Amino acid sequence: MDINKFIEEKVKEIKQAVGDEIAVNALSGGVDSSVVAILAHKALGDNVKNIFLDDGMMRQNEPQTIKSSFEKIGIKVEVKDVSNRFFQALKGQEDGEEKRKLFRDTFYKVLGEIVKESGAKCLLQGTIKPDVEETQAGIKTQHNILSQIGIDPEKEYGYKVVEPLIDLVKWEVREVGKALDLPETRFNTMPFLGPGLSGRVIGEVTKERVEIVRQANNIVEEEIMPLKPFQCLAVLFKDKATMKSDENAKGRNYGNIIAVRCIESKDARTAEVTEVPYDILKKIVKRITEEVPGVIKVVYDITPKPPSTIEYI
Ligand code: XMP
Repeated sequence: MDINKFIEEKVKEIKQAVGDEIAVNALSGGVDSSVVAILAHKALGDNVKNIFLDDGMMRQNEPQTIKSSFEKIGIKVEVKDVSNRFFQALKGQEDGEEKRKLFRDTFYKVLGEIVKESGAKCLLQGTIKPDVEETQAGIKTQHNILSQIGIDPEKEYGYKVVEPLIDLVKWEVREVGKALDLPETRFNTMPFLGPGLSGRVIGEVTKERVEIVRQANNIVEEEIMPLKPFQCLAVLFKDKATMKSDENAKGRNYGNIIAVRCIESKDARTAEVTEVPYDILKKIVKRITEEVPGVIKVVYDITPKPPSTIEYI
């Protein structure tokens, strides 16, 4: 791929698609929407509004970190706290696929309202090729795929969607990010799933359960990131495990289980497990059980993809 030619073409395409209208870029801070933010800034200048939807499923301090990292390179970001809408929508739901669908519907509904309020006629999105492939194959519902599954966003939500990265896989997007001078912390960011931490909670998504997995993810990232894996994560199980209570405690007590996963991959289509040194794993276990309230068991998942997927749901 000729990267400079790609950038030139996409800037032109965005200009043509949006014209003199206002466009909204739903920035998540991941490499895909970050690359779109820069392409759009080049194409449209101040006519693109970067909106960060704080859905309540973000990692520790993510909204603030992303806002300030873009503002450093002259791109304004507006953070909108819409977390209650997502927790309300997901209330009582336990099925993974159902939760993904509810997340997607809520995301588009909320975003649609915001796009309408802003007067924009166009939404820019960082959808990439594997998102489309997995949704079409029925493997899982990605939150950012609509037209590919027969939903017309213009009819359904009142705006058209422009997806400049639709033909690329992850590593190609990173290369484009590098060529666009995106700060390393952004183009080399670890993949993170669209539905955010709601996808790392098995069973019902509540504020309390998301907070548990947020803290566990943070510890995993702090301890494992120096190894520079493709991806590392923590997942909260629905089942609980028996706790070794102190002598005076009455009856059986249960606590939460966290799974830790760390993998190596090029494009997320297949993955191998990272051989994380034992002392790091032991430190993770110690920190999670001591620092995250209510977690009493931590397991390290060593399953490759296939047969497993990288995430749990
Ligand atoms: P799986 O679990 O399918 O994940 O092996 C493959 C890669 O995709 C990420 N992932 C997502 N990314 N929206 C995204 O933008 C999503 O809904 C989504 N689900 C999974 C996952 O973290 C991994 O890197």
